[in-house]
Amino acid sequence: MKVGIAADHGGFEMKQQLVEKLQAKNHEVKDFGAYELSADDDYPDFIIPLSKAVARGALDRGIVICGSGVGASVAANKIPGVRCGLCHDHFSSRQGVEDDDMNVLCLGGRVMGPAVAWDHVEAFLCATFSGAERHLRRLEKVAALENDGLPQRKIKKQ
Ligand code: RB5
Repeated sequence: MKVGIAADHGGFEMKQQLVEKLQAKNHEVKDFGAYELSADDDYPDFIIPLSKAVARGALDRGIVICGSGVGASVAANKIPGVRCGLCHDHFSSRQGVEDDDMNVLCLGGRVMGPAVAWDHVEAFLCATFSGAERHLRRLEKVAALENDGLPQRKIKKQ
């Protein structure tokens, strides 16, 4: 599979470990950075380019990582066509693909170890969307929200 991976400093180490494991399984891996550990880096700088690549079909799947996984999943889901799930359990990493056609897996680099992370990745990459009518219907309802011109909620400065 053509798999993209991206992480900020909170997921940097996990990304390096997963890249090696993905390559060992003969996946074609595109690393969107970070390419060095810098506590000052910003997750959108890595997550958004990966998400755009998934959305335009340049990648089969994407994996995004930050410290908790929250920021990375929020950022990825801003890109129309991306269906990113922050997963903490193996069931969701598999079923998110089967039922929800999840195309980007999000993990928290500070909330799990490398063996559990790899288990998530394998479950995610081995799963396929069922294509069931009820799931397609639900996905269409979600996709209809993209680009519908809803007003944007502003970010509050404290
Ligand atoms: C960075 O320190 C941390 O906030 C970030 O990696 C992530 O957890 C954001 O959601």
